[in-house]
Amino acid sequence: RARVVVLISGTGSLCAALLDATEDPAYPADVVAVGADRPAPGLEHARRRGVPTFVCALGDHPDRSAWDRALAAGIAAFEPDLVVSAGFMKIVGPAVLDAFEGRLINTHPALLPAFPGAHAVRDALAAGATVTGSTVHLVDAGVDTGPVLAQREVPVLPGDDEPRLHERIKAVERELLVETVARMAATEREDESSR
Ligand code: GAR
Repeated sequence: RARVVVLISGTGSLCAALLDATEDPAYPADVVAVGADRPAPGLEHARRRGVPTFVCALGDHPDRSAWDRALAAGIAAFEPDLVVSAGFMKIVGPAVLDAFEGRLINTHPALLPAFPGAHAVRDALAAGATVTGSTVHLVDAGVDTGPVLAQREVPVLPGDDEPRLHERIKAVERELLVETVARMAATEREDESSR
């Protein structure tokens, strides 16, 4: 099974969905650690299942580049095949990008390239979008700009506010993330057997 490190910042409900999926013996990946940039409540999902956790906070490092290197080392210690940013609200730096290029994926609550950034749901509502959704993509040096791996639409309903719409998007994100990680894990295995 592919080794996955998940990065979170908040409630970690997407991470919990991945942890649940790995309980199926047929699922091709395991979550080997969950990391956060703060003492995120979502780390509890991992702890409860005995999955190791780590916190790498920007404020504990002299500057952003030292933090980036520490985060890369913190992730690398678990020897992941895939790194999943699932509600990780920091932009990762060159050390993380270089170490995990092509193996670092992010889930975003909008149909990229529409509504990148930290307030995708609010921005979609403010723009009067009638359809938004969920995107899983490879991370590159830009903000939410990497190649798209999977997308699914979510309609904006009359009376939607940010929490309500975000909750419906997250329900779709959980499915899309679990499916995409399985697909990436299977590809990883094929690459390995042809090496
Ligand atoms: C998810 O909607 C994720 O796409 C979003 O944070 C939420 C995390 O939910 N990420 C971003 O907006 C990144 N720009 P969770 O903590 O319940 O898993």
